[in-house]
Formats: sequence, C-alpha cells, structure tokens
Amino acid sequence: MKYNLRSHQWFYGANETGLLHKGALRSAGIDMDNYHGQPIIGIANTWGELNNCNISLKEVAEQVKEGIYEAGGIPLEFPVITLGEELMKPSAMLYRNLLSMDVEENLRSYPIDGVITLGNCDKTVPGLLMGAISANLPTIQLNAGPKQVGVHKGKRLGSGTDLWKYWDELRKGVIDEEEWENIGISLSCGAGSCNTMGTAATMNGLLEALGIMPLGLSTLPIDADERAAINKEAGKRIVQMVFDDLKPADILTKAAFRNASTLLMALGGSTNAIIHLTAIAGRLNIPIYPEVFNEMAQLVPCIANVQPAGSYLIDEFDRAGGIPAVLNRLNTVLDGNTITYTGQTLGNLISESIAIDEEVIRPLSAPISPLPAIAILTGNLAPAGAVIKVASASLELLDHTGPALVFNNYEDMLNRIDDPELPVSANTVLILRNTGPKGVPGMPEWGMIPIPKKLQLQGVKDMVRISDARMSGTSFGTVVLHVAPEAALGSVLALVKDGDLVSINVMERQIKLEVDDHELQLRKQQWQPIVSLHKRGYPALYIREVLQANEGCDFDFLKPKNKEELIFISP
Ligand code: FES
Ligand code: MG
Repeated sequence: MKYNLRSHQWFYGANETGLLHKGALRSAGIDMDNYHGQPIIGIANTWGELNNCNISLKEVAEQVKEGIYEAGGIPLEFPVITLGEELMKPSAMLYRNLLSMDVEENLRSYPIDGVITLGNCDKTVPGLLMGAISANLPTIQLNAGPKQVGVHKGKRLGSGTDLWKYWDELRKGVIDEEEWENIGISLSCGAGSCNTMGTAATMNGLLEALGIMPLGLSTLPIDADERAAINKEAGKRIVQMVFDDLKPADILTKAAFRNASTLLMALGGSTNAIIHLTAIAGRLNIPIYPEVFNEMAQLVPCIANVQPAGSYLIDEFDRAGGIPAVLNRLNTVLDGNTITYTGQTLGNLISESIAIDEEVIRPLSAPISPLPAIAILTGNLAPAGAVIKVASASLELLDHTGPALVFNNYEDMLNRIDDPELPVSANTVLILRNTGPKGVPGMPEWGMIPIPKKLQLQGVKDMVRISDARMSGTSFGTVVLHVAPEAALGSVLALVKDGDLVSINVMERQIKLEVDDHELQLRKQQWQPIVSLHKRGYPALYIREVLQANEGCDFDFLKPKNKEELIFISP
C-alpha cells in the first residue's frame, strides 16, 4: 500500500479494483492521482426537509468542507437518516438505533478516514455519536444551534415547556382556540433546536463535556457569526486527528462519562439523556447506569436556571457563559484530565470560562434547588430502575403514597383522562403502561400524563405519575419514567390494579407497589401479553432486539458484550 491511511486501501491496491475505485471518485469530481497521502473525511449529515431543527446543517457542511480542504483533506458529504422529533411517529426514538447503524455502516463500507457528524435535534445527537463510536474512526460532532425565541403577548416562549402550559390553559378554558393558534404561530420561529433545556440542548451540551464537540458551540444561537469559524476550524482539526489517530475510544473514557453525568445534573437536563448517555457509554462497554448518575446527582445540584427546571431560555444561558461556564463551576468535581478532540484536556480548556451572570448560571452554593436534579428509583415496581427529574417535580410529592389508577395503554388514557366520572383525587397515583421500548414500540414521550380535567378545575397542578414511557426534556411535574422492566414483558408494572397502594420516596430512591409477592404471582399467572401488530420490517426488528431503558434502549446486537467485541471497523 502506498500510504498508511485506511482509505488508501481502496485506491492503491495492486489490482483492477484500485482503478475502479479511483474512477468512481474521478466521476464524482475528485482525482485521487492528484492527492497523495491526504485523508478522506466523511461528513455524515442529518439534514432533511422533514426535520426543521436540522435544516441549516447544509450550510454547516459547507463551512466544514472549507476547513478540510484548507488542511489538505478531501471532504465527502453523505446523507444519513434524519430524525425530526416533531414529525416522526410514534417517536424519533424508534429510529435512533437505525441512525447509529446508518452511520456505522457508511463508515465501515466506504473509504473514509475520519468523520464530522452533523446533528441538532434530540435523537440525531446520540444516534450519530453511537454510530461513530462503533466505527471508531476519528470523529468530531457539530450541531446547528437553537432556534430564535418566539414571543406571545410580550412573553418569550420556551419550546415545548410553554406548549404544555398553554395546552393545560386551553383544556381549562383559560385561553380560547384563537389564542392557542396564535401561540402555535409564535412557537414556529424557524430552523434550529428547542430553546429550552430539552433533550437537544442537554445532549449537545453533554457532547461538549465528553470532549467530542467544540466547547461553547452547542448553545450559540443558530445565526451566530462565530459558528462559521468554529465549523471551519473543526474541518481543519479532523484532518490532523486522522494523522494523530485520535479516536472516539481514546476520548470517551469512563472519566469523560462521569464528567458528562455531572454536567447533566448541573443543567437539570432532560431525562432522555439518562437513556442516551447509557447507550453511548454502552457502545464502549462502560457501565454507568444507575450508579454514576445517582452519585453525581448527590454531588452536584442544578445550577443552570433554564426552563423547564428554571426560568431562562438557552439564548440567555449562552450569554451567561453556556456549557463551559457551568463546567468551570464544577471544576472541583470534574476530572479535568480527560482528553478532548482538540488534544487538550477539558480542565485546560475551561479554566478561564467564568460565568458572567450569576442569576442564570448559579454558584454551587446557590442552586436552583438543593435537591438532586435527577434520581433513579428502584423497588419491586421497577427492579431495574425508574427515573424522575426531581428538578421539575413538586417538593410535597417526593415522598408520597396513594391508590393507583391504571391506564392500560395510551389510547385508554386519552379516552378516559377528562371523564368527569374518573375515580381520581389529587392523592391518586396515575399509572400508564405498555408504553415502553417494546410496548409501542419506541417508548414515546407519553409519560407526562395530563392532570385529569376534573382535578385541574379544582386547581390541582401536579400529581405522581408513573409509566414505562419517556417524556420530553421540556416537560415537568412529579413524573416517574422509564420503569424497567417495562409492562410489555409482564413485569410488576403490568400487574398493578386500580386501588393498589403505590409509594415513591425520592430521597430514599424507592418506588414500591404495596402488594405482596404471593398476590403478584397469582396475577402473573393471569397476565396476557399484548400482541404486537408488527410482524415484519424495522419495527419488528426493534421489538425483538431492543434492550430495556436501564441499558439505554440499544439493540442487543449493537452493544458489545465484552472487550473483545469492542473494536470495530474493517473495510
Ligand atoms: Fe428538534 Fe426540539 S424538536 S430540537
Ligand atoms: Mg424533545
């Protein structure tokens, strides 16, 4: 072989296929005979017109290409499936693993030496990274940025968070249909990701802490001038990373995942990040659920005053210093020795990132709440864990026992929730089941069960709600999610009956169904599995292979079982 680059195996083999491969690229406008030893950099782009959040990634790709050319690399952009949170049904989550396979298999099968992955909307962020990890080629991930802020009657609107709030107002009759439609128009403010600390802002922020995305990039507004220069610089850097052979497995160490988990707690970030970070670490056979999350939640309170846990929006958070300033605040807890894609340590890069607004990025001594941001509960109702975002729950419900009211599936819940005869009080624990990874499939964001209309009219604002679903990162309430194992597997969640006493004690990290084992065994004998309509195609594959939430909902065959299964790529 002429050069020691992976891609050159395609072009400089001493046989007829070398000629064929060179010809293929020549036909695409690139003459490999004019290139000598330069790496080919893939740009995996989740751009797509069905995904408004990612629509500006075409421009990002062009900026990246400039940098790659300038550093002497050859950029080749390719499309991968886009996952638009707002339009995909039943949930973009169903396709996160498909995106990861799309990325991995493109990288495996084409002559590529390093990759820039471009995402923005929620699931595109972990999906891209999971694929790049499994390929283990040098990787930098970039985002597009949060969208502009819409305004309704002088109030700045938080993506998702205000949608759910006004939806409740509409159901209560506080606002009318016309105002509701106007709010919808105000919320549609162009390309970009949600402007609250939802899943997109959380996950992109975590990638900064992991060392795989430029520090400070993720929260920059979509139209910020600085973006072009950062994107171009990333293009230059990836070429050098190929020569340095700096790969995701070198960067994404257990210490890096501990740092990212610490940041997640300080951000009061999305509960979805628990699943995604678990899955990302799982691709490297690094276990983090639940120990690392619970440990970090004890160490670090929520200090980012951003909706839904706090008051501000991402543009204000960005001006206050963004992710680097939060990381700087955490420097006594972080491991600053982790290596980032730049080759420099995280500690070095954040050493001068001082928060410039103490109301938006609080000191550790003045958190949004002294309680842990997220807690993972276990007990007979969730032997493998369940997640609650304490940061956006009600204090008085964190230690609560009440009678269950069970909705057997989502349709059942929609049909009955506003029934004036619903046997429910503020004390009731609402249970929604058969909404987990295999149950729907894809574990949609149905976990924030609406407060029954009957109680809303009495002024009830929050109740304990438990499900095997997820909820949007922009949601709020005393909502216990991701119950594992899920009801579709015939777990204890599947056996709960109306009136059973259910208790949660968040400080003790417990969740319990107050029914004895003998009775549960009898109920299990009566239990009938739900019959899935999916007999073929990707949903059938998903149901067969998806792991439970405590394993990040990855596919069984994508997750390495041991060190030997880890690595990785061959042409
Ligand atoms: Fe795409 Fe929120 S819906 S980032
Ligand atoms: Mg979301």
